[in-house]
Amino acid sequence: MTGDAIKIRVENICKVFGQNPVSVMDQVRAGASKSEILEKTGHVVGVRDVSLDIRAGETFVIMGLSGSGKSTLIRHFNRLIEPTTGHILVDGADVLRMDEKELREFRRHKISMVFQRFALLPHKTVIDNVVCGLTIAGMHKTEARDRGIAQIELVGLKGFENQYPKQLSGGMQQRVGLARALATDAEILLMDEAFSALDPLIRNDMQAQLKELQARLHKTIVFITHDLDEALRIGDHIAILKDGELRQAGTGADILLNPADDYVARFVNDVNRARVVTVGSLAEKAGLLPLSDANASNCSALLDDNEAIILTDNGKPCHVVVRDDRHRLDELLDSNAVMPAAVCVDGDLVLEDGFSILANNENPLVITNGADLPLGVVTQRRVLRALARDGLD
Ligand SMILES: Nc1ncnc2c1ncn2[C@@H]1O[C@H](COP(=O)(O)OP(=O)(O)OP(=O)(O)O)[C@@H](O)[C@H]1O
Ligand SMILES: [Mg+2]
Repeated sequence: MTGDAIKIRVENICKVFGQNPVSVMDQVRAGASKSEILEKTGHVVGVRDVSLDIRAGETFVIMGLSGSGKSTLIRHFNRLIEPTTGHILVDGADVLRMDEKELREFRRHKISMVFQRFALLPHKTVIDNVVCGLTIAGMHKTEARDRGIAQIELVGLKGFENQYPKQLSGGMQQRVGLARALATDAEILLMDEAFSALDPLIRNDMQAQLKELQARLHKTIVFITHDLDEALRIGDHIAILKDGELRQAGTGADILLNPADDYVARFVNDVNRARVVTVGSLAEKAGLLPLSDANASNCSALLDDNEAIILTDNGKPCHVVVRDDRHRLDELLDSNAVMPAAVCVDGDLVLEDGFSILANNENPLVITNGADLPLGVVTQRRVLRALARDGLD
């Protein structure tokens, strides 16, 4: 579920590493490249003027090649790194203004981090690893244990509480890391390449498990990955960084269908769009007309502005009239004529799963939301254009 409230607001963050970062900010602002600045001044531009909003309850993925600034950016969120310029607001509060005590509370309760290499304590059991943060924070042992057990169950490791990390596979260790982050009950999870060390099958399982957990828990998750398939699978929104710069942020479909520049286009070039793009993301606005009001002149007027009209009965779609039908509206709307029933599909259907329905119907499909209310139509032609390399425009 993607709420509308903004959980994390990143405002014009720049991070320069080196002896005197502020001294090179003029060059950064003037647009000098990362390699130019490194060569001339010995400073490294980690993140360059990034602004983004991450919404409560969403999984926000940050992507980019090695060295593009993903870890640097995410470490600003819990202030492991301070920016050279810019602000981070979490629930409206400026993280940079927090004093030591506030920051400690913030890291303990609000935001928690899962690392790439598990970072488990080898001499502690699974349960002790999961609850160590809680007991350090002063929680009573029994309460911490109960909470730990619940999290271990949640990640599917019931029965392994008393094992040691080395007795577990890599995937299981990663799940312990996830359970530990969940046990803090933090609203925000930062996951920096949390699944990258796992082999593909286990990684697949972890992605599925994270999605399932997220559907229940509605945390705000910021997830870093190199892997575009992973990003598209779990991300509600995806941001693509290059040389510390934000090139595009949007839904997977946005990025695939309307890449902001050549770099993003090349980045997503090999993705199987049919597996990612939903029919809902291609829906075109259609005119709505109750069947009882459908006559040739009403339909004709609506077809001036719409490719298609959805005729409804009690708000439910029952037939579709398209622009090509214009010359035969009287015939079509004749009370004795038999119009084909509207074919409705849920907006979340991915194109690949809709191919046979599209192939077997001449009229556009009516796209509905969960409550069967019409959102628009999708034509076969629009689907083909979305799949074509040169995109929709
Ligand atoms: N502590 C540091 N001191 C100097 N430069 C740094 C430091 N941390 C990061 N950098 C530089 O900042 C840039 C971004 O690094 P960062 O670690 O954020 O990349 P990344 O996208 O997380 O890469 P990876 O995918 O390899 O983890 C790189 O050029 C890196 O050399
Ligand atoms: Mg990194």
